[in-house]
Amino acid sequence: MIDLDHIRRLLAERRDGFSLPQGFYVDPAMHEADIKAVFEADWLFACNVCEIKQPGDFLTLEVGPNPVVILRDRDGEVRAFHNTCRHRGSRICGKEKGRATRLVCPYHQWVYELDGRLINARQMPPDFDRDGYGLKPVHVEVICGMVYICLAETPPDISRFRAAVTPYIKPHMPDRTKVAFEMTLIEDANWKLVIENNRECYHCAGNHPELLVTLVEFVLPDDEQGRKFQDLLARKTSRWDQLGLPHRPAEGGQEFRCIRLPFHEGMLSFTMDGGPACNKLLGDFTEPDLGSVRMFRVPNNWNHFLSDHIIHFRILPLSHDRTALRTTWLVHEDAVEGVDYDVERLTQVWIATNAEDAELAAVNHRGIRSMAYEPGPYAPSEFMIRNFLGWYAAKMESFANPHAPMQVAAE
Ligand code: FES
Ligand code: FE
Repeated sequence: MIDLDHIRRLLAERRDGFSLPQGFYVDPAMHEADIKAVFEADWLFACNVCEIKQPGDFLTLEVGPNPVVILRDRDGEVRAFHNTCRHRGSRICGKEKGRATRLVCPYHQWVYELDGRLINARQMPPDFDRDGYGLKPVHVEVICGMVYICLAETPPDISRFRAAVTPYIKPHMPDRTKVAFEMTLIEDANWKLVIENNRECYHCAGNHPELLVTLVEFVLPDDEQGRKFQDLLARKTSRWDQLGLPHRPAEGGQEFRCIRLPFHEGMLSFTMDGGPACNKLLGDFTEPDLGSVRMFRVPNNWNHFLSDHIIHFRILPLSHDRTALRTTWLVHEDAVEGVDYDVERLTQVWIATNAEDAELAAVNHRGIRSMAYEPGPYAPSEFMIRNFLGWYAAKMESFANPHAPMQVAAE
């Protein structure tokens, strides 16, 4: 049972510019509230269309207690359904990925078409109305090959996000890729700590030796921290302007961030020597020196789009103190393993970085459980966490005050 008074009290305690009151991170009941207020309400990144290329290809995921199946139907459309049988509720597809001509429930073998219609329900009486028992649909939006789903009855508007990020990511053609490697890491931390960790690079210098071979720690074009960065940026962006590749930060507010930033001079890709990770470039690119488009969208997705590969990151909360991070590395659909790319070289930097971040989030969570914890101040460079928490607090405000929909967080 969710205690809305408890959430209201925690929100009243929250101070802008400080980490959240303890209960938001460590209270087991907060998991259910987060699922309802955030994960059952907003658009979530699910996968790339290349993972469900052929009719009948499916991929499953669990949003809190909700099993979902995403598939390619016979007409080539991407669809999503609640992966729960209309007979007595069994989960239907059990595998994370697969191909099926129809979806057959393992319990009593009710059979569903790829468009969700119930087409066979054996032993049911002749007058049984199959049309009334199709799979319940889940909203789907495909943005340049990235599949987003929304479980809400009426999803929030995603058109501003689509319009803003498309010019940045379309040239990388995420829809013309294949998965070179994927992995799921279970982090022992509340999902908000996983996002917070991702939203700042204050921790990079002390923790990410592999990443910092190539990644420049600065995060905005007007970053005042170094003349060297300004010179690098000016050189790179004048070339990107000639190529027609947008790079200035998009107006994403608290909802999303999209920007193209350079790597260190001479560095081309996320590898241990900064050299290419895949010799076959994405899309129509002929130049490898494109830095990376960094795109983040609340609540569960961040990405890097490089000249030679793309990395999608997806998080889903498993409980108040466990979070699943799924990472997919994508290369050009025609790239050949062992010829154009080597999986170990392609994945080495971010496998190491993910492991380092998972450890940081886990020890962050452990420390927050302490009786001595109190919310601490963010540094100016942690402004993206303030954006995220402002967005989160507004979500929780309207969830905890359902009869006052106009009331939002202070910022
Ligand atoms: Fe699915 Fe019975 S629960 S067929
Ligand atoms: Fe990190």
